[in-house]
Amino acid sequence: MTLLLHTNDQDIQRAADILAKGGVVAFPTETVYGIGADATKSEPVDKVFAAKKRPHDNPLIVTVSDDQMLRRFAKLDQRAEKLIAHFWPGSLTLILPLLDDEILPSNVTAGLSTAAFRNPKSQVTRNLISLFNNPIVGPSANLSTKPSTTTAAHVMHDMAGRIDAVIDDGPSQIGVESTIVDLSVPDATILRPGAVTADEIAAVIGEKVIDPSSPITVAKGVAPKAPGMKYRHYAPSKEVIIFQAEDAEQLKTVLKPSDAVLALTDILAKFDLPEERSWSLGQNADSAAEELFSALRAFDDRDSVQRIYVQGLAKKGIGEAYMNRLEKSAGGQHFHLE
Ligand code: TXA
Ligand code: MG
Repeated sequence: MTLLLHTNDQDIQRAADILAKGGVVAFPTETVYGIGADATKSEPVDKVFAAKKRPHDNPLIVTVSDDQMLRRFAKLDQRAEKLIAHFWPGSLTLILPLLDDEILPSNVTAGLSTAAFRNPKSQVTRNLISLFNNPIVGPSANLSTKPSTTTAAHVMHDMAGRIDAVIDDGPSQIGVESTIVDLSVPDATILRPGAVTADEIAAVIGEKVIDPSSPITVAKGVAPKAPGMKYRHYAPSKEVIIFQAEDAEQLKTVLKPSDAVLALTDILAKFDLPEERSWSLGQNADSAAEELFSALRAFDDRDSVQRIYVQGLAKKGIGEAYMNRLEKSAGGQHFHLE
């Protein structure tokens, strides 16, 4: 049985008690929902891997309530100090060297001497972690390879019966996971794009930031920097194909009755589709990022839909994170005019 908890003090205390007993609780953040368990003990962390069916060579994010808690585990340089002062709490995850290699269980770090630290905006989640007084792991609350979850209902869809509780705090506002920046290397490097952009990071640290603009590709046998990037990701069971706004008219002429379209409101209007075959991404890249995973999940549950055409957007600002997730969902498939 998976308990559905709310954000009142009593329920948060209940969640903290579950964590203290080595249990697993899904929690809200402004990016996506996460799955929490005591990050300092290996047995609770193993339950998170099992619940997600996540491969063990993919390390977890460590979620902290504030920078004081972070300092118990990681070494902070000038860049880390500046980024924390500017962006925390918020959607920026930092890869930092650990104070010592054994300070976190090896299933959290996958044996690396660094770890990923995040301090989410959610006051509820930060209260939970400070009540518990230890960091909690925080991978996204979806089955491995599936789109991340942005509502408690989506978490229940994937995790009911697999974890002890979910705290419902309504939909996540951003909708795609945090930016990950690696500070364990001489030049700060973006490992996963998110709401905080490389330019914003560079402006705060006053140094260049490496941002591999092409999707991270991993050569066989080479360890990827963000191990999670090598797996099939964000993938619904339906086929996903990316199309460009200027090709909408052409696409309309070849659509099959089992095809659905996911696009910004003005582009979607051109298709004139029934509700069960269409989903609006709103007006801009912000709303598109917020809607993407919900929409992919909704179509996954509609038997009449076989294929989902999703509008591509410019890779700037949050559009870069949106396209990064969409390209993975689509496995790189694009609609091309014959
Ligand atoms: O927004 C988010 O970051 C969400 C919410 C719930 O906080 N969490 C999230 O966690 O996206 P997850 O586990 O789905 O993604 C964490 C990524 C993985 O790709 C993992 O490989 C990478 O961070 N990672 C973790 N530790 C790392 C390390 N020491 N070095 C490099 N990459 C690391
Ligand atoms: Mg994930």
